[in-house]
Amino acid sequence: MTAPVLRPGILDIAPYVGGESAAPGAGRVIRLASNEGAFGPSPRAVAAYRAAADDIHRYPDGHSRALVAALARRHGLDAAGIVCGNGSDELLHLLALAYAGPGDEVLYSAHGFLVYPIAARSVGALPVAVPERALTADVDALLAAVTPRTRILYLANPNNPTGSYLPESALRRLHAGLPENVLLVIDAAYAEFVGAADYISGQEMATEFPNVVMTRTFSKIYALGGLRLGWAVCPPAVADGLHRIRGPFNINSAAQAAGVAALADTGFVGAAVLHNHQARQWFAERLRGLGLTVYPSEANFLLVSFAGWANPETVRQFLKARGILVRQMTAYGLPDCLRITIGRSDELREVVDALSAYPR
Ligand SMILES: Cc1ncc(COP(=O)(O)O)c(C=O)c1O
Repeated sequence: MTAPVLRPGILDIAPYVGGESAAPGAGRVIRLASNEGAFGPSPRAVAAYRAAADDIHRYPDGHSRALVAALARRHGLDAAGIVCGNGSDELLHLLALAYAGPGDEVLYSAHGFLVYPIAARSVGALPVAVPERALTADVDALLAAVTPRTRILYLANPNNPTGSYLPESALRRLHAGLPENVLLVIDAAYAEFVGAADYISGQEMATEFPNVVMTRTFSKIYALGGLRLGWAVCPPAVADGLHRIRGPFNINSAAQAAGVAALADTGFVGAAVLHNHQARQWFAERLRGLGLTVYPSEANFLLVSFAGWANPETVRQFLKARGILVRQMTAYGLPDCLRITIGRSDELREVVDALSAYPR
Protein backbone atom coordinates (compact mmCIF):
# COMPACT_ATOMS: atom_id res chain seq x y z
CA MET A 1 0.00 0.00 0.00
CA THR A 2 1.29 3.45 -0.80
CA ALA A 3 0.25 6.62 0.95
CA PRO A 4 -1.88 9.23 -0.86
CA VAL A 5 0.35 11.41 -3.01
CA LEU A 6 0.24 15.19 -3.07
CA ARG A 7 -0.18 16.69 -6.52
CA PRO A 8 3.02 17.90 -8.21
CA GLY A 9 4.04 21.38 -7.10
CA ILE A 10 2.39 21.36 -3.68
CA LEU A 11 5.59 20.47 -1.85
CA ASP A 12 7.30 23.32 -3.75
CA ILE A 13 5.12 25.79 -1.84
CA ALA A 14 6.93 27.68 0.90
CA PRO A 15 4.15 27.87 3.52
CA TYR A 16 2.93 31.42 4.21
CA VAL A 17 4.22 32.72 7.51
CA GLY A 18 2.08 35.48 8.98
CA GLY A 19 3.26 38.27 11.26
CA GLU A 20 3.97 37.41 14.87
CA SER A 21 1.25 38.24 17.38
CA ALA A 22 2.91 37.48 20.73
CA ALA A 23 5.99 38.75 22.53
CA PRO A 24 6.45 36.41 25.49
CA GLY A 25 7.85 38.16 28.53
CA ALA A 26 7.02 41.69 27.38
CA GLY A 27 4.38 43.41 29.52
CA ARG A 28 2.26 44.74 26.65
CA VAL A 29 2.34 44.01 22.94
CA ILE A 30 2.34 46.56 20.12
CA ARG A 31 1.35 44.69 16.99
CA LEU A 32 2.84 46.32 13.93
CA ALA A 33 3.56 43.16 11.91
CA SER A 34 0.33 42.56 9.98
CA ASN A 35 -1.07 45.93 8.78
CA GLU A 36 -4.23 45.35 10.77
CA GLY A 37 -5.56 48.91 11.13
CA ALA A 38 -4.45 51.27 13.89
CA PHE A 39 -7.71 51.67 15.81
CA GLY A 40 -9.32 48.26 15.58
CA PRO A 41 -12.75 47.94 13.95
CA SER A 42 -15.62 50.41 14.04
CA PRO A 43 -17.72 49.96 17.22
CA ARG A 44 -20.70 49.60 14.90
CA ALA A 45 -19.08 46.60 13.23
CA VAL A 46 -18.36 45.04 16.62
CA ALA A 47 -21.98 45.58 17.71
CA ALA A 48 -23.26 43.96 14.51
CA TYR A 49 -20.90 41.04 15.05
CA ARG A 50 -22.22 40.53 18.59
CA ALA A 51 -25.83 40.80 17.45
CA ALA A 52 -25.19 38.11 14.84
CA ALA A 53 -24.55 35.66 17.70
CA ASP A 54 -28.30 35.16 18.15
CA ASP A 55 -28.60 33.50 14.75
CA ILE A 56 -25.47 31.40 14.39
CA HIS A 57 -27.50 28.20 14.27
CA ARG A 58 -28.70 29.39 10.83
CA TYR A 59 -26.71 29.07 7.63
CA PRO A 60 -25.62 32.43 6.29
CA ASP A 61 -27.04 33.96 3.11
CA GLY A 62 -24.94 32.10 0.53
CA HIS A 63 -25.05 35.14 -1.75
CA SER A 64 -24.17 37.75 0.92
CA ARG A 65 -26.95 39.89 -0.58
CA ALA A 66 -27.06 42.66 2.02
CA LEU A 67 -23.29 43.01 1.97
CA VAL A 68 -23.08 42.99 -1.82
CA ALA A 69 -25.83 45.60 -2.00
CA ALA A 70 -24.01 47.78 0.55
CA LEU A 71 -20.73 47.47 -1.39
CA ALA A 72 -22.50 48.29 -4.67
CA ARG A 73 -24.06 51.41 -3.13
CA ARG A 74 -20.88 52.55 -1.43
CA HIS A 75 -18.68 52.15 -4.52
CA GLY A 76 -21.18 52.93 -7.26
CA LEU A 77 -21.01 49.42 -8.72
CA ASP A 78 -23.35 46.92 -10.30
CA ALA A 79 -24.06 44.27 -7.64
CA ALA A 80 -23.88 41.51 -10.26
CA GLY A 81 -20.11 41.93 -10.61
CA ILE A 82 -19.31 41.74 -6.90
CA VAL A 83 -18.09 38.43 -5.50
CA CYS A 84 -17.26 38.08 -1.80
CA GLY A 85 -14.52 35.88 -0.41
CA ASN A 86 -13.34 34.47 2.88
CA GLY A 87 -10.67 37.14 2.93
CA SER A 88 -9.36 38.42 -0.37
CA ASP A 89 -6.85 35.57 -0.06
CA GLU A 90 -9.66 33.16 -0.92
CA LEU A 91 -10.52 35.17 -4.03
CA LEU A 92 -6.89 35.20 -5.16
CA HIS A 93 -6.83 31.41 -4.80
CA LEU A 94 -10.19 30.94 -6.54
CA LEU A 95 -9.00 33.03 -9.48
CA ALA A 96 -5.97 30.75 -9.85
CA LEU A 97 -8.21 27.69 -9.65
CA ALA A 98 -10.57 29.11 -12.25
CA TYR A 99 -7.98 30.30 -14.77
CA ALA A 100 -4.68 28.45 -14.35
CA GLY A 101 -3.46 24.89 -14.10
CA PRO A 102 -0.55 22.58 -14.89
CA GLY A 103 1.63 23.95 -17.68
CA ASP A 104 0.38 27.52 -17.23
CA GLU A 105 2.34 30.51 -15.99
CA VAL A 106 1.26 33.14 -13.47
CA LEU A 107 3.12 36.44 -13.36
CA TYR A 108 3.74 38.67 -10.36
CA SER A 109 6.30 41.34 -9.53
CA ALA A 110 9.35 40.12 -7.66
CA HIS A 111 8.53 41.71 -4.31
CA GLY A 112 4.79 41.16 -4.68
CA PHE A 113 2.46 39.66 -2.10
CA LEU A 114 3.50 36.09 -1.27
CA VAL A 115 0.04 34.61 -1.69
CA TYR A 116 0.39 34.93 -5.51
CA PRO A 117 3.07 32.25 -5.97
CA ILE A 118 1.28 30.06 -3.42
CA ALA A 119 -2.01 30.36 -5.31
CA ALA A 120 -0.25 29.55 -8.60
CA ARG A 121 1.54 26.49 -7.28
CA SER A 122 -1.57 25.20 -5.51
CA VAL A 123 -3.22 24.68 -8.91
CA GLY A 124 -0.09 23.26 -10.51
CA ALA A 125 0.83 26.43 -12.43
CA LEU A 126 4.28 27.99 -12.49
CA PRO A 127 4.67 31.32 -10.68
CA VAL A 128 7.02 33.69 -12.52
CA ALA A 129 8.57 36.49 -10.44
CA VAL A 130 9.35 39.50 -12.64
CA PRO A 131 12.13 41.90 -11.58
CA GLU A 132 11.07 45.32 -10.31
CA ARG A 133 12.60 48.72 -10.83
CA ALA A 134 13.32 50.72 -7.66
CA LEU A 135 11.09 48.36 -5.65
CA THR A 136 8.17 49.16 -7.97
CA ALA A 137 6.41 46.90 -10.46
CA ASP A 138 8.04 47.35 -13.89
CA VAL A 139 5.41 47.47 -16.63
CA ASP A 140 7.87 46.76 -19.47
CA ALA A 141 9.46 43.83 -17.63
CA LEU A 142 6.02 42.37 -16.82
CA LEU A 143 4.91 42.64 -20.44
CA ALA A 144 8.21 41.14 -21.64
CA ALA A 145 7.61 38.15 -19.35
CA VAL A 146 4.29 37.24 -20.96
CA THR A 147 4.40 33.98 -22.94
CA PRO A 148 1.69 31.92 -24.67
CA ARG A 149 1.42 30.02 -21.36
CA THR A 150 0.64 33.10 -19.25
CA ARG A 151 -2.87 33.00 -17.77
CA ILE A 152 -2.88 35.48 -14.87
CA LEU A 153 -0.93 38.56 -13.81
CA TYR A 154 -1.35 39.44 -10.13
CA LEU A 155 -0.47 43.01 -9.23
CA ALA A 156 -0.88 44.49 -5.75
CA ASN A 157 -1.49 48.22 -6.11
CA PRO A 158 -0.19 49.60 -3.82
CA ASN A 159 2.08 46.67 -3.19
CA ASN A 160 2.72 44.88 0.07
CA PRO A 161 5.47 44.97 1.35
CA THR A 162 7.11 47.75 -0.70
CA GLY A 163 4.32 50.35 -0.39
CA SER A 164 4.95 51.46 -3.99
CA TYR A 165 2.20 51.86 -6.59
CA LEU A 166 1.59 52.20 -10.29
CA PRO A 167 -0.33 55.31 -11.37
CA GLU A 168 -3.39 54.98 -13.62
CA SER A 169 -1.39 55.63 -16.80
CA ALA A 170 1.04 52.78 -16.05
CA LEU A 171 -1.77 50.43 -15.03
CA ARG A 172 -3.62 51.12 -18.26
CA ARG A 173 -0.43 50.69 -20.29
CA LEU A 174 0.12 47.35 -18.58
CA HIS A 175 -3.39 46.24 -19.40
CA ALA A 176 -3.19 47.47 -22.99
CA GLY A 177 -0.04 45.43 -23.55
CA LEU A 178 -1.49 42.16 -22.26
CA PRO A 179 -3.04 39.57 -24.56
CA GLU A 180 -6.82 39.51 -24.12
CA ASN A 181 -6.73 36.00 -22.70
CA VAL A 182 -4.52 36.99 -19.75
CA LEU A 183 -6.43 37.94 -16.60
CA LEU A 184 -5.09 41.04 -14.86
CA VAL A 185 -5.86 40.78 -11.12
CA ILE A 186 -5.44 44.16 -9.45
CA ASP A 187 -5.17 43.54 -5.72
CA ALA A 188 -6.21 46.83 -4.14
CA ALA A 189 -6.10 45.68 -0.50
CA TYR A 190 -4.65 49.06 0.56
CA ALA A 191 -6.63 51.30 -1.83
CA GLU A 192 -8.29 53.34 0.92
CA PHE A 193 -4.93 54.56 2.24
CA VAL A 194 -3.67 56.01 -1.04
CA GLY A 195 -3.42 59.77 -1.29
CA ALA A 196 -1.80 60.05 -4.74
CA ALA A 197 -4.03 61.87 -7.22
CA ASP A 198 -2.95 59.69 -10.16
CA TYR A 199 -4.05 56.46 -8.45
CA ILE A 200 -7.08 54.37 -9.35
CA SER A 201 -8.17 51.28 -7.45
CA GLY A 202 -8.89 49.39 -10.66
CA GLN A 203 -12.64 49.00 -10.18
CA GLU A 204 -13.13 51.21 -13.26
CA MET A 205 -11.03 48.83 -15.33
CA ALA A 206 -12.78 45.75 -13.94
CA THR A 207 -16.09 47.11 -15.17
CA GLU A 208 -14.60 48.22 -18.50
CA PHE A 209 -12.62 45.15 -19.61
CA PRO A 210 -13.48 41.42 -19.66
CA ASN A 211 -9.99 40.48 -18.47
CA VAL A 212 -9.55 42.68 -15.38
CA VAL A 213 -10.55 41.85 -11.78
CA MET A 214 -10.05 44.06 -8.74
CA THR A 215 -9.87 42.53 -5.25
CA ARG A 216 -10.39 44.38 -1.95
CA THR A 217 -10.39 43.52 1.73
CA PHE A 218 -12.04 44.40 5.03
CA SER A 219 -8.83 43.40 6.85
CA LYS A 220 -6.93 46.69 6.54
CA ILE A 221 -8.86 49.99 6.69
CA TYR A 222 -11.86 48.27 8.32
CA ALA A 223 -9.61 46.26 10.69
CA LEU A 224 -11.73 43.10 10.43
CA GLY A 225 -8.94 40.66 9.56
CA GLY A 226 -10.15 38.13 12.11
CA LEU A 227 -13.50 37.76 10.34
CA ARG A 228 -11.94 37.02 6.92
CA LEU A 229 -13.83 39.18 4.48
CA GLY A 230 -12.82 40.26 1.01
CA TRP A 231 -14.57 41.15 -2.22
CA ALA A 232 -13.88 41.45 -5.90
CA VAL A 233 -15.24 43.41 -8.83
CA CYS A 234 -15.43 41.01 -11.75
CA PRO A 235 -16.53 41.01 -15.37
CA PRO A 236 -19.69 38.85 -15.78
CA ALA A 237 -17.94 35.68 -16.99
CA VAL A 238 -15.37 35.83 -14.18
CA ALA A 239 -18.08 36.36 -11.53
CA ASP A 240 -19.99 33.41 -12.96
CA GLY A 241 -16.92 31.17 -12.77
CA LEU A 242 -16.08 32.17 -9.20
CA HIS A 243 -19.64 31.58 -8.01
CA ARG A 244 -19.51 28.07 -9.47
CA ILE A 245 -16.37 27.06 -7.58
CA ARG A 246 -16.60 28.98 -4.30
CA GLY A 247 -17.92 27.36 -1.15
CA PRO A 248 -21.71 27.82 -1.12
CA PHE A 249 -21.57 29.59 2.28
CA ASN A 250 -18.05 31.05 2.11
CA ILE A 251 -18.91 34.22 4.04
CA ASN A 252 -20.10 33.55 7.58
CA SER A 253 -23.11 35.43 8.92
CA ALA A 254 -21.14 37.47 11.49
CA ALA A 255 -18.72 38.68 8.81
CA GLN A 256 -21.61 39.68 6.53
CA ALA A 257 -23.27 41.68 9.32
CA ALA A 258 -20.05 43.32 10.50
CA GLY A 259 -19.12 44.20 6.92
CA VAL A 260 -22.40 46.02 6.31
CA ALA A 261 -22.05 47.95 9.57
CA ALA A 262 -18.41 48.81 8.88
CA LEU A 263 -19.29 50.23 5.46
CA ALA A 264 -21.96 52.44 7.01
CA ASP A 265 -19.51 54.00 9.49
CA THR A 266 -17.94 56.42 7.02
CA GLY A 267 -16.79 58.76 9.80
CA PHE A 268 -14.67 56.01 11.34
CA VAL A 269 -13.05 55.22 8.00
CA GLY A 270 -12.37 58.89 7.27
CA ALA A 271 -10.64 59.34 10.61
CA ALA A 272 -8.53 56.21 10.07
CA VAL A 273 -7.42 57.44 6.63
CA LEU A 274 -6.54 60.88 7.97
CA HIS A 275 -4.56 59.39 10.85
CA ASN A 276 -2.68 57.13 8.45
CA HIS A 277 -1.61 60.04 6.23
CA GLN A 278 -0.41 62.17 9.12
CA ALA A 279 1.18 59.39 11.16
CA ARG A 280 2.91 57.85 8.13
CA GLN A 281 4.57 61.14 7.31
CA TRP A 282 5.55 61.81 10.94
CA PHE A 283 6.93 58.30 11.37
CA ALA A 284 8.90 58.34 8.09
CA GLU A 285 10.50 61.67 9.02
CA ARG A 286 11.52 60.39 12.47
CA LEU A 287 12.98 57.19 11.05
CA ARG A 288 14.91 59.12 8.40
CA GLY A 289 16.13 61.37 11.20
CA LEU A 290 17.68 58.27 12.78
CA GLY A 291 19.61 57.64 9.57
CA LEU A 292 17.36 54.89 8.25
CA THR A 293 16.23 54.49 4.64
CA VAL A 294 12.43 54.65 4.40
CA TYR A 295 10.79 53.82 1.08
CA PRO A 296 7.86 55.96 -0.10
CA SER A 297 4.58 54.25 0.86
CA GLU A 298 0.97 54.77 -0.14
CA ALA A 299 -0.25 52.11 2.29
CA ASN A 300 -0.58 51.67 6.07
CA PHE A 301 2.98 50.49 6.56
CA LEU A 302 6.53 51.55 5.87
CA LEU A 303 9.30 49.45 4.40
CA VAL A 304 12.48 50.42 6.23
CA SER A 305 16.01 49.45 5.17
CA PHE A 306 18.56 48.89 7.92
CA ALA A 307 21.45 48.43 5.47
CA GLY A 308 24.51 50.14 6.93
CA TRP A 309 22.64 50.82 10.18
CA ALA A 310 22.32 47.49 11.98
CA ASN A 311 21.35 43.88 11.38
CA PRO A 312 17.58 43.99 10.82
CA GLU A 313 16.95 40.67 12.57
CA THR A 314 18.84 41.87 15.64
CA VAL A 315 16.79 45.07 15.56
CA ARG A 316 13.57 43.06 15.22
CA GLN A 317 14.48 40.94 18.26
CA PHE A 318 15.43 44.09 20.18
CA LEU A 319 12.00 45.57 19.45
CA LYS A 320 10.26 42.28 20.23
CA ALA A 321 11.93 42.13 23.64
CA ARG A 322 10.24 45.50 24.26
CA GLY A 323 6.88 44.11 23.14
CA ILE A 324 7.00 45.72 19.67
CA LEU A 325 6.29 43.32 16.80
CA VAL A 326 7.35 44.23 13.25
CA ARG A 327 7.64 42.09 10.12
CA GLN A 328 10.74 40.29 8.91
CA MET A 329 11.26 40.62 5.15
CA THR A 330 13.55 37.72 4.17
CA ALA A 331 10.67 35.75 2.59
CA TYR A 332 10.06 38.75 0.34
CA GLY A 333 13.68 38.87 -0.79
CA LEU A 334 14.31 42.04 1.19
CA PRO A 335 16.64 40.79 3.93
CA ASP A 336 17.94 44.28 4.80
CA CYS A 337 14.46 45.53 5.57
CA LEU A 338 11.71 45.40 8.17
CA ARG A 339 8.09 46.36 7.50
CA ILE A 340 6.36 48.39 10.17
CA THR A 341 2.60 48.99 10.27
CA ILE A 342 1.31 52.51 10.88
CA GLY A 343 -0.22 51.99 14.31
CA ARG A 344 -1.56 54.59 16.74
CA SER A 345 0.59 57.66 17.39
CA ASP A 346 1.61 56.50 20.87
CA GLU A 347 2.71 53.14 19.44
CA LEU A 348 4.81 54.77 16.72
CA ARG A 349 6.41 57.05 19.30
CA GLU A 350 7.45 53.94 21.23
CA VAL A 351 9.06 52.50 18.10
CA VAL A 352 10.99 55.73 17.51
CA ASP A 353 12.08 55.85 21.17
CA ALA A 354 13.17 52.21 21.10
CA LEU A 355 15.14 52.64 17.88
CA SER A 356 16.73 55.83 19.24
CA ALA A 357 17.94 53.76 22.18
CA TYR A 358 19.26 50.93 19.99
CA PRO A 359 22.92 50.27 20.89
CA ARG A 360 24.74 50.66 17.57
C1 LIG B 1 -1.58 42.90 -0.97
C2 LIG B 1 -2.47 42.07 -0.12
N1 LIG B 1 -3.48 41.41 -0.69
C3 LIG B 1 -4.31 40.64 0.03
C4 LIG B 1 -4.14 40.51 1.40
C5 LIG B 1 -5.03 39.56 2.13
O1 LIG B 1 -6.11 40.15 2.67
P1 LIG B 1 -7.26 39.31 3.34
O2 LIG B 1 -7.10 39.46 4.81
O3 LIG B 1 -8.51 39.94 2.82
O4 LIG B 1 -7.15 37.88 2.91
C6 LIG B 1 -3.11 41.17 2.05
C7 LIG B 1 -2.91 41.00 3.49
O5 LIG B 1 -1.88 41.20 4.05
C8 LIG B 1 -2.26 41.96 1.27
O6 LIG B 1 -1.23 42.61 1.84
